[in-house]
Amino acid sequence: MDPIGIVRLGDENFEFPIMEGTEAERAIDLRTLRSKTGYIAFDEGYGNTGSCESGITFINGEKGILRHRGYPIEQLAEQSSFLETAYLIIYGELPSEVALKAFERNILSNATLDGKMYPIFEGFHQDSHPMAMLSSIINSLCTYHSEYATNNRKVDLEHFDAASSILMSKARTIAAMIYRKKMGLPMMDSDPSKSYSEDFLSMLLSKPEVPYVDTCGASKALDLFFLLHADHEQNCSTSTVRMVASSGTNLFSSISAGISALWGPSHGGANMAVIEMLEAIHATGDDGTGFIEAAKSGQAKLMGFGHRVYKNYDPRAKILGKSAVSVLEKIGINDPLLDIARRLERAALEDDYFVQRKLYPNVDFYSGIILKAIGIPVEFFTVMFALGRIPGWMANWKEIAENPKSRIHRPRQIYTGHNERNFVKIDKRS
Ligand code: ACO
Repeated sequence: MDPIGIVRLGDENFEFPIMEGTEAERAIDLRTLRSKTGYIAFDEGYGNTGSCESGITFINGEKGILRHRGYPIEQLAEQSSFLETAYLIIYGELPSEVALKAFERNILSNATLDGKMYPIFEGFHQDSHPMAMLSSIINSLCTYHSEYATNNRKVDLEHFDAASSILMSKARTIAAMIYRKKMGLPMMDSDPSKSYSEDFLSMLLSKPEVPYVDTCGASKALDLFFLLHADHEQNCSTSTVRMVASSGTNLFSSISAGISALWGPSHGGANMAVIEMLEAIHATGDDGTGFIEAAKSGQAKLMGFGHRVYKNYDPRAKILGKSAVSVLEKIGINDPLLDIARRLERAALEDDYFVQRKLYPNVDFYSGIILKAIGIPVEFFTVMFALGRIPGWMANWKEIAENPKSRIHRPRQIYTGHNERNFVKIDKRS
């Protein structure tokens, strides 16, 4: 007999099945709660709610474990590349050499944008935020590739391979174009003989007559950054992608919604906020002690610290902390922000406030230092996060689209407004 959980409401007992995942994560299956009892489950912020079954990524926040399709993030970071990990996340298995080559070729050869897209970039204000532009222009891909964005699940799934290559590749060109337009730089062609990250850096950072040349391993560091951001279970942006996809919406629009969700400072926007925080601390000459005290008293937030799921070190932060040191060394930069970050980390990890609340550095704490060293402008940090996260969003879209039993996501609420009232005409209102 399947295990059963018993919920007592008033003097009645109700039975619900217990679900168990591959890693012994358990849940009470409450899908029949309302029909059996008339109650709903209230869980604002979804801290206790499993919104789906998923075979993509596993996190054990207590132990600081992150695995994609069963492979530990440490092994992928050490031995894989961003595109190979993207393939793994999207298709579920590590690719053969032939499959990886084909996957890379499809992505690298799809960088050129439809000529009709260029005027779009002119239409934005010069000072528009790059994340606003990225999410809008990604959504516009539906109009240039409408055959892959039909909102007919069967058709969209048949074209998934083509649509996902277009999205992975063109998101990179779009990001580079946004930057170049802002800087008044001319468009730079893609070179499919380069790696994904090197080609991106070249499209982004080349100056007229001075092509970008990576002499100190910047593209490798960026590739690792992308890989470490490739997926992260049911976070705010991925849940958003799944929410939008659940209504049958196509891949491009679902991911455009994910980009908007990522933008906020409590999520992907934190990587910008960390650098702004470190720069502000540097400018005041504070050794970090003052800021820690401000964070404890609620006057400030230690950006890049804390996580809804990790109550231990975020394993990606450990890898990025080491990568930051090696990138700065290779580029030959002595960035005082790295010293401030390390001092803050040490101070926080020894402080009761942070220890009791299990607040540790998250992925955003060191990533900005790496991006800054590579030459990426701070305003573009969250765009970098988005480029890295696209494989995870696409894998989650595919999982929903391929599930014949998936239903539209439609939570309920506890209404706290007025009871029924009688409408009063405007001239009779006091
Ligand atoms: N600095 C200071 N105190 C903090 C921090 C922080 N960074 N994070 C959490 N706390 C405190 C809260 O004030 C709260 O204290 P209390 O119990 O006295 O009220 C306690 O720790 C629990 O925090 P919650 O806000 O309930 O945690 P939640 O899971 O809702 O939020 C979040 C997680 C949003 C990541 C939060 O830790 C935060 O804002 N961190 C800074 C922003 C950041 O780095 N975001 C990136 C997250 S990773 C990602 O999305 C890629």
